[in-house]
Amino acid sequence: MIAGEPIDPRTFVVEERLAGVSRIVGVAGSKGGVGRSVVASTLALALADQGKRVGLFDLDFTSPSDHVVLGVERGFPDEEFGIDPHVVHGIHMVSVAFFAGDTAVPLRGDAATGALLELLAITRWGDLDVLVLDMPPGLGDTNLDIVQLLPRLEFLLVGNGSRVVIDSVRRALQLYTKLDVSMIGVLENMHRGNEHAIGSLANTFGVPFVGSVPYDQNLEDALGDVGLLRTSDVYGAVRDIL
Ligand SMILES: Nc1ncnc2c1ncn2[C@@H]1O[C@H](COP(=O)(O)OP(=O)(O)OP(=O)(O)O)[C@@H](O)[C@H]1O
Ligand SMILES: [Mg+2]
Repeated sequence: MIAGEPIDPRTFVVEERLAGVSRIVGVAGSKGGVGRSVVASTLALALADQGKRVGLFDLDFTSPSDHVVLGVERGFPDEEFGIDPHVVHGIHMVSVAFFAGDTAVPLRGDAATGALLELLAITRWGDLDVLVLDMPPGLGDTNLDIVQLLPRLEFLLVGNGSRVVIDSVRRALQLYTKLDVSMIGVLENMHRGNEHAIGSLANTFGVPFVGSVPYDQNLEDALGDVGLLRTSDVYGAVRDIL
């Protein structure tokens, strides 16, 4: 911290708000469209099915997806001394979609940091075994802010076998290793063929390779239908990761 740099007082509230949460798991990975939201939502569903107290916080403010994956249509959350997450399919859930509906939420720079801090400071998560964070793509504002704000954070990185994704995951692993973020491991999604190049990459960083989800051409039908999601390969691959 630079001497004289202003400190947002909400940063002091955040850890207090999360005091009852045992584990904070960010589902991350630098490249877009690799399946983070499907993995984060399905992981939360699987944990809730196992009787765990689980939260799901969609941190992709400009493009939230978890409400679509889990088929959740809910309005503004209840407020009393803070925001109470909606409880859906046993999951305590917060998404900007609950506040903004179908309206676009363009955010940049300080506004993105402000929105993150505000929601972390006002949400009453209560006692949870696991809080799952669905991270936005990239290595920008929200990903860096969350690493700085939550020292207890653990990341599960999602990628696939494409060379463009592997190149990007390598950069993410470099950065997060340098920043000393705890790593649950790397999950390969949309796997085709026999190679697990992303598994080899994980190994070179000393990070566990926690599984491989096949490309599932029926997954689209399961989006919004938790019954079908429970029978999907994603559910099978993530339910025992933690
Ligand atoms: N194993 C899979 N098999 C087939 N399709 C998949 C699989 N996993 C995810 N998808 C599909 O890939 C698309 C992207 O998934 P998702 O939105 O979860 O990715 P994301 O990494 O969260 O993307 P974003 O960068 O936009 O946040 C979706 O249409 C999703 O249904
Ligand atoms: Mg997403």
